[in-house]
Amino acid sequence: MTRPQLAEFMRRMEPDSVAIIPAAPEATRSNDTRYRYRQDSDFYYLTGFDEPEAIAVVAPSREEGRFTLFVRPRDPEHETWEGRRAGVEGAKERYAAEAAFPVSEFREKLQELLNGARNVYYRLGVRPELDEVLVKQIGEMRTRSRLYVAPDSITDPGAILGEMRLVKSDAEIELMQRAADIAAGAHVEAMKNVRLGMYEYEIEALIEYHFRRSGAAAPAYGSIVGGGANATILHYKTNEDELRDGDLLLVDAGAEFRGYASDITRTFPINGRFSQPQREIYEAVLAAQTRCIEMVKPGVTMEELNNHAVKVLTERMVSLGLLEGEAEKLIEEKTYRRFFMHGIGHFLGLDVHDAGRYQLEGKSRPLTPGVVITVEPGIYVAEEAEHVPDKYRRIGVRIEDDVLVTAEGHRVLTAKVPKRIEEIEKLMAR
Ligand code: GLY
Ligand code: MN
Ligand code: MN
Repeated sequence: MTRPQLAEFMRRMEPDSVAIIPAAPEATRSNDTRYRYRQDSDFYYLTGFDEPEAIAVVAPSREEGRFTLFVRPRDPEHETWEGRRAGVEGAKERYAAEAAFPVSEFREKLQELLNGARNVYYRLGVRPELDEVLVKQIGEMRTRSRLYVAPDSITDPGAILGEMRLVKSDAEIELMQRAADIAAGAHVEAMKNVRLGMYEYEIEALIEYHFRRSGAAAPAYGSIVGGGANATILHYKTNEDELRDGDLLLVDAGAEFRGYASDITRTFPINGRFSQPQREIYEAVLAAQTRCIEMVKPGVTMEELNNHAVKVLTERMVSLGLLEGEAEKLIEEKTYRRFFMHGIGHFLGLDVHDAGRYQLEGKSRPLTPGVVITVEPGIYVAEEAEHVPDKYRRIGVRIEDDVLVTAEGHRVLTAKVPKRIEEIEKLMAR
């Protein structure tokens, strides 16, 4: 049976067109060792096929097969070293390919696949060697126009796939809830187990241990575990410092479950109790975050959410003495960016920064049911920040949840991790 995603993609393709969607290449870590394979999200979305070196060809009007997979053939020697392959037969039996061939035959079959198609959906600029094969083939067909009808255009399939991936089906939402639950459990473990004198990497290990033992494939992105001043570095990744009494710990970590990402940030005191200045900054971020989440319903835009977060945060920055002046002017001049320098959030799905257009006709798009976003305001006061009360230095706070837009409003997928100060302190006191 054709996967629903693939069937819908075929419906949305222009008539008489062909789509060529390659799998992600393998990535080298060093010399001849590779990272564990992670499939390209578009390819995975359409096919569910998790092997490298594959190419999917989708041609709704092709009688020989609307969905063809080119795959690595079975090969006992290679499989002994590198793992099992579905092979040509498996591609048909397990992945519903109507036709399947060894990937080595792609080049020679390309001409026939393209012949007569008016348009080819293919993403240029990602796989230069494949770009060349395709462009050369089309060029050749054009020069031999008495024999072949070459496609007129190459268009990016991302426009169709992005819009499809943006709106999650019930089955996808279930997987995203699983990814969210796993990450939520890991954050709770981190809060319960953090101790003075531990190192950031110990918390990273604890979180990722929880991910893996819960069946997650991997972290959905590099886990950020930053204590004290490290929490004010947005993409802090080394996670190598000791956790110190009196500091906050910012943990931004999400799990990937069957391809789908979660993305959670919590910030909590390493010794279990927020100091007064930490509390003040934390409450400002929490107020912005909870109010933005309350606004989430069909029709609201990311821009509206962002504007609201900026308003709440800037007003609080003024009342705390981080900024001086009229909130309105500080917003207009973007002065708040000294302490809140990223956006309110992003789409979430197979990619942590997921596919789909943020703008439609030049305006921030109204959200619709099935879209999942993150809501993640923060305030970051670097150690060296100028003209700030000393008590706020080294305080970085971000609070991030994953929020599904529903017909009635929204559902917070990551609600199982506490974020109110009393709840966090109570959990940590146990
Ligand atoms: N962890 C990536 C992000 O929050 O966007
Ligand atoms: Mn995020
Ligand atoms: Mn995050």
